[in-house]
Amino acid sequence: MPPTNVCLIGAGRAGALHATNVHRYVPDARMTAIVDDDAARAADVAAGLDAKPFATLAAAIAGADIDAVVIATPTFTHRDLAVEALEAGLHVFCEKPMALSAAECDDMSHAAAAAGRVLQIGYVRRYQPEFVEAFARIANGDIGDVTMVKSLTRGPGLPPAWAHDIALSNGMLAEVNSHCFDTVRWMTGSEVTRVYAEVANHKGERNGITVEGFYDTAVVTLRFASDAVGVVDGVCPAQYGYDARVEVIGTEGLITIGDTLGMPVLTCVDRSVGGTRPVHKTWPERFSWGYVHEITGFVDAVRGGEMNGPDGVDGKRAVEIVVAANRSWQETRPVELVGAAA
Ligand SMILES: NC(=O)c1ccc[n+]([C@@H]2O[C@H](COP(=O)([O-])OP(=O)(O)OC[C@H]3O[C@@H](n4cnc5c(N)ncnc54)[C@H](O)[C@@H]3O)[C@@H](O)[C@H]2O)c1
Repeated sequence: MPPTNVCLIGAGRAGALHATNVHRYVPDARMTAIVDDDAARAADVAAGLDAKPFATLAAAIAGADIDAVVIATPTFTHRDLAVEALEAGLHVFCEKPMALSAAECDDMSHAAAAAGRVLQIGYVRRYQPEFVEAFARIANGDIGDVTMVKSLTRGPGLPPAWAHDIALSNGMLAEVNSHCFDTVRWMTGSEVTRVYAEVANHKGERNGITVEGFYDTAVVTLRFASDAVGVVDGVCPAQYGYDARVEVIGTEGLITIGDTLGMPVLTCVDRSVGGTRPVHKTWPERFSWGYVHEITGFVDAVRGGEMNGPDGVDGKRAVEIVVAANRSWQETRPVELVGAAA
């Protein structure tokens, strides 16, 4: 079988990582096209990957061999780009959050079903080894029935400027914590039925962000159809490091996932002061293996293997939770998720 030809759309932070991972770690695939409306970025990422740069997806379809696309553009572009790619018969890996609204997610899923093509959403934690191991233990019944789940994500840097505007991104609950919302659904095996969110803006002014609705700190309490309860929190920017941890409490025990500490390296210089150990510094470092496994899994599914990654339903559910949580803090009330199934 010939290699799968992949086109990246959006050669920014996440896109450049995916393109490099395909090039380095996925022998069954090759990068043939890099699309970015910033020509310099497209050319920069294409150089070294033996791929051609393009300004639009239409130009790439006309000028390169393509079987599948990786969409890593800002959230507000996901729906149109995914539908365009699927209608052209291409398989789609789309970065999280899937889109801005449940209706946009439906458009994408309907286009995938009509075309008979793979649509996978970039919830990388589903491929990160310690998350996979924890899920297997929960599924095995090691901690009994899940009664409570807590998931936190704190990122060190400000997201790109477009993500500061909740109209374009749905804010930090989407950009950062949608990973948590997907994780808590996965770990509980149940749907969120009610949320209550509090958010705050502690560092926006200091960072020159004046756009209305910006927040950098959030806590969301969750109720699940199974009667489990949960908490998700986020801080971004959190200068102390990249921090992603989960606790799952069951009727018979506890599973924890993740650690603030990075590499097991300890420096001791002065015994009266103690030692220092590195913390996780960035998301590409924290989830480095997850990113490789998820893009490998996508290529496998495109090549006829089982599609076992997060799909359009998973993507839509996370978007629904984000939208409900934003409504919750805006209206200072708990919000029910209509139609959430057990
Ligand atoms: N899975 C993860 O851990 C993770 C991490 C970071 C970002 N992301 C997601 O990846 C997506 C991109 O985020 P980012 O931080 O890489 O953004 P970014 O701003 O760094 O990069 C986006 C790129 O898309 C390009 N672009 C914008 N509109 C375009 C269009 N219509 N056509 C072609 N190119 C276009 C921009 O020029 C830019 O180069 C978002 O959905 C974000 O949530 C996921």
